[in-house]
Amino acid sequence: MCKTTGFQDCLHYVFDYETPKTLVIPSIRVGCVFRFTQLLVVLYVVGYVCVVQKAYQDTDSVISTVTTKVKGFAFTNTSDMGPHLWDVAEYVIPPQGDHSFFVLTNMVVTPEQTQSRCPELPNPSTTCVDDCDCIEGHSDPRGNGIQTGLCENYSTTVKTCEVLSWCPHEVDTKLPERALMSAAENFTVLIKNSITYPKFNIHRRNILPHINSSYLKRCEFNRTSDPDCPIFRLKHIVSEAGEDFQDMAVKGGILGILIDWSCDLDWWAKKCYPKYSFRRLDNKHPVNNVAPGYNFRFVKYYKKSDGEETRMLIKAYGIRFNVIAFGTAGKFGIVPTIVNLGAALSFLSLVPVVTDWFMLTCMKKRDFYSKQKVSYLTEDTESMPMGSTYGTQ
Ligand SMILES: *[C@@H]1O[C@H](CO)[C@@H](O)[C@H](O)[C@H]1NC(C)=O
Repeated sequence: MCKTTGFQDCLHYVFDYETPKTLVIPSIRVGCVFRFTQLLVVLYVVGYVCVVQKAYQDTDSVISTVTTKVKGFAFTNTSDMGPHLWDVAEYVIPPQGDHSFFVLTNMVVTPEQTQSRCPELPNPSTTCVDDCDCIEGHSDPRGNGIQTGLCENYSTTVKTCEVLSWCPHEVDTKLPERALMSAAENFTVLIKNSITYPKFNIHRRNILPHINSSYLKRCEFNRTSDPDCPIFRLKHIVSEAGEDFQDMAVKGGILGILIDWSCDLDWWAKKCYPKYSFRRLDNKHPVNNVAPGYNFRFVKYYKKSDGEETRMLIKAYGIRFNVIAFGTAGKFGIVPTIVNLGAALSFLSLVPVVTDWFMLTCMKKRDFYSKQKVSYLTEDTESMPMGSTYGTQ
C-alpha cells in the first residue's frame, strides 16, 4: 500500500490509533453463538475451576510418621535348622524401620560356616586343572574369598581353585519352591499413622476417634465391612495389590501400603479420613523376569565349646512393605479465590473472538458484516458511504 504514496503514509500506519466502535448485529444466530460461548466459559469456571479443582482453596501437603507392629507365628522344620518356631523378633528385620517393615518369608540357610579354606563353587572362571591356574592372593568380587593358589577337588569330577573364606559356601540355587514361612500370609500388622497439616494446624491419626481398644483387639481391615480398622492381614494386602501371597513369598518383593489423606477442611465439607490402597512397587517384568524379588543376607554367630567361632548364613527372601502417606488439604482462602477466578474469567475475553470468527466466516451476510466491521477513518471518508476501505478513490 505504501509503495508509491511514500514515506509519509507509511508513518501513518505506525502511528494510527485504533479504537473499537460498537456494532450491533441483529442476528439470532450470531447472538446464540455469543451467548453459548459465554455459557461455556461460565460452566468451565463454575464446574471445573470451582467444583472439581476447588481453586478457591489454600492447600498444604501432608507430613506423616508411621509405626508398625507385626504379629503372628510360623513353624518350620528344615534339614538345615531343624524344628524352629519363628516369632516377630526373628522374622521382622530390622526390628523397627522407617515407614517400612520387612517380613521374612523364604530363605537359604548355610549353617556352621567357619573361617577356613575350601574349593570355590564351580563356574568357568574358578575351575582349574592344576595349581598353575590359580593365583595366590587373587580375589574375584563375584567369588567367595581370596584364592590360596591351590587347585582342589570340588567333587569327584570337578576341580576348582581353593579360597580362604567362610566355608562351606552357600549354594543359593536350592531355594525352596514353596516359601518356608507360608504361614506368614496369616500374620497381621497394626499400622499407626499420624499426620499433620502444619499450615492449618490439623493433626489426625488413622486410629479414628470412634475406635476403642476392645474393637482394636479383634478387628481386621476389610474394604467393605471394616474400612477403618488399622490392622491388616498380610495376605489381604497382597491380594488387594493384585498378587498372590504364596507366589510373591518365594522370591520376595516390595509392596506399597498407600494412605491417602486428602482433606477438605472447609466448614461445609469437613472431611479428613485416611483411605487405604495397596500396590506392588517392584515391577516384575512379565516376560524377561531376571533378578526378581527382594533378598539380602544376614548372619548369626555362635561359639563352639572349643572356642571356635562359627556362623549361620541366611539369605533372606521376603516382602518389604512401604507405608506411604500422601495427600493435600484444602481450605477456603481469599487470595487463591481472587487469583484463580480472575484467571478463569479472563477466558471471557475470548468470547468476542469466537463470535467474530463465526460471524465473518459462517454467516451468509459475512461480506456485508466484514465491510461494516473494519473501516478506516480519513478526511475523505466523511463524504463516502460507511465501510469504504482506505485508499479507495
Ligand atoms: C491361614 O488362616 C486360614 C484361616 O484361618 C487357614 O485356612 C490357612 O490354612 C492359614 N494359612 C496358612 C498358610 O497356615
